[in-house]
Amino acid sequence: MSIATTPDSLFGTFDENGEYHPRAITEDDVGDAALESAYEATLVTVEDGQIVEGRVVKIDKDEVLLDIGYKSEGVIPSRELSIRNDVDPNTVVKLGEHVEALVLQKEDKDGRLVLSKKRAQYERAWGKIESVKEADGIVKGMVIEVVKGGLIVDIGLRGFLPASLVELRRVRDLQPYVGFKEGNYWRHRVCRNQAVEMLVICWRPGQKTPIHDHNGSHGVVRVQKGLMWETIFAFDGEKGLCYDNGRECPTGTVTGAGVPDIHQLGNPDVSGQDLITIHVYAPPLGVLKTYKVGSAQVDLYTPNDFPT
Ligand SMILES: [Fe+2]
Repeated sequence: MSIATTPDSLFGTFDENGEYHPRAITEDDVGDAALESAYEATLVTVEDGQIVEGRVVKIDKDEVLLDIGYKSEGVIPSRELSIRNDVDPNTVVKLGEHVEALVLQKEDKDGRLVLSKKRAQYERAWGKIESVKEADGIVKGMVIEVVKGGLIVDIGLRGFLPASLVELRRVRDLQPYVGFKEGNYWRHRVCRNQAVEMLVICWRPGQKTPIHDHNGSHGVVRVQKGLMWETIFAFDGEKGLCYDNGRECPTGTVTGAGVPDIHQLGNPDVSGQDLITIHVYAPPLGVLKTYKVGSAQVDLYTPNDFPT
């Protein structure tokens, strides 16, 4: 068995009386006057707008501290961490991880160095996206939000994909998803992953959804063919569910559902024609909350897709 030994030079010495004398830890080779400037020379200098690299040394709910070798640690406010909104800092960075950040302010009113990881990411992404555009190339990214009129795609920055282009790319041929049945509207799933799902829903005249909200999911609907009625409701803890407003959505309408948004969609009896709608939900719909007019009761409902 071998025993690890430590070199003697790491220790002090004992004199003949058994007194311990620690070893000299530093030797003054710079002189007092030069000490400060020698210290400064070991620090990095930064300018506003510069991209710096550093190590994550602390993660809080509101901010992350980054050691970039500057005289004080840099602060990344949580809103400057990610292009995604309302993220938990712990899901974006890990302690000890090396990340890039852009210097927003060398010194704020409290004398702190303020950094943005999101802005550094933008700067890098712009360069790439510009060259992809020059080459008429394609960028790939995950859908991270559904907003009114389209989708937000993470391509290093927040890319907006208009809903009018979504189905052109994904549902070139709608026919496999078109099918009607009596009694209830029919949901046909085009695709579904962790982030997003797309459905084609076919409605005979008079068929409509229960009054529902999406339980936290964002949704966009495009009326592909026919006339859709949308009714919006308001929830009052005392009076229960009340009618708010309604509107007719002809072919080509794109409508988005906010969160929370209690509504009912349907093909009105009087339309006299079938209705086909395309739906995008992010994240995919799970259990929906359903409501009844005049009641404060909330029920749960899981829609069935075809194919299941
Ligand atoms: Fe809905």
